[in-house]
Amino acid sequence: KDVILGIDIGGTNTKFGFLDRDGISLVQGELSTNEGETVHDFLRVLYQEVMTKFKKIEDEANLIGVGVGAPNGNYYTGTIENAPNLKWHGSVPLVDLLKQYFKMPVFLTNDANAAAIGEMVYGGAKNMNNFVVITLGTGLGSGIVVNGQLVYGHDGNAGEIGHTLVNVNGRGRMCGCGRKGCLETYVSATGIKRTVYKLLADSTDYSELRSVSFNDLTAEMITQAAKRGDKIAIDAFEYTGKVLGMKLADTVAHLSPEAIFLFGGLVRAEEFLFDPVRYHMEKNLLHIFKGKVKILPSGLGLNNTAVMGAAALAWNEMERGATA
Ligand code: BGC
Ligand code: NA
Ligand code: ZN
Repeated sequence: KDVILGIDIGGTNTKFGFLDRDGISLVQGELSTNEGETVHDFLRVLYQEVMTKFKKIEDEANLIGVGVGAPNGNYYTGTIENAPNLKWHGSVPLVDLLKQYFKMPVFLTNDANAAAIGEMVYGGAKNMNNFVVITLGTGLGSGIVVNGQLVYGHDGNAGEIGHTLVNVNGRGRMCGCGRKGCLETYVSATGIKRTVYKLLADSTDYSELRSVSFNDLTAEMITQAAKRGDKIAIDAFEYTGKVLGMKLADTVAHLSPEAIFLFGGLVRAEEFLFDPVRYHMEKNLLHIFKGKVKILPSGLGLNNTAVMGAAALAWNEMERGATA
């Protein structure tokens, strides 16, 4: 049967799967996004990994196309431009490069847009016309659906909420984009690590995270620590959730969504993240929105919403006869 290769490139890890039209994954894989120095090194390793996995299903599967979600991935141009969280600088013609390997149609969109498409086609937003997916990974991205349409904007870059300011007066944490005080420097897998370090420096409380070096610390470790009752870890989620919740009150004012989905590893922290996000969003909502907007976990079981959405993008495009 026909399958599409869906790829979700993240700042740290890249996930992929071969999916049928129903979003069922036949086989999946994962690799580091930091393989080699250049995008060419990475694509060589990616292609190898992908083809090794494909061998397992080649008797039953016919690969017809590729869909990719990537940080700063642009649907219109097929390029990634100066992604703050990728080490490939300048303009990367990802679609052209992938076509040289796969010799078939390749479609690209922003990684958070891919998650929004996955949610819309297969997930919790199937019956929604207005919703936002926030991805919490190395950076913070958003995929916005308004009136049933994914919002691309004039240049294809709509949804860069991770690089909106939460700090005025030119203060705030340094961001990979070169500015100070961007939302993603607080709210992301890397943002919460920075918060843990700040909280540890400001207190003498016991924490199991105190002995871990910044490079070894992961969002998953902070999540596990919070679940064991570690106060620093819980406070870090409280702070992260507060900053995000306040920002989402603005997002609601802009877009009037029915729901906001949170996607990415941090979601595994469950109530440690969701409680403060809900509380602080609700508290800061304009009165006309109060009590009306749901904050929901994204993620389709064990599957990756963004891999599924990247594949769904390619399915949609190929069904409407797009040549790419
Ligand atoms: C990028 C977005 C991306 C997000 C999550 C941000 O730094 O600017 O394009 O969606 O990270 O990867
Ligand atoms: Na987006
Ligand atoms: Zn920024």
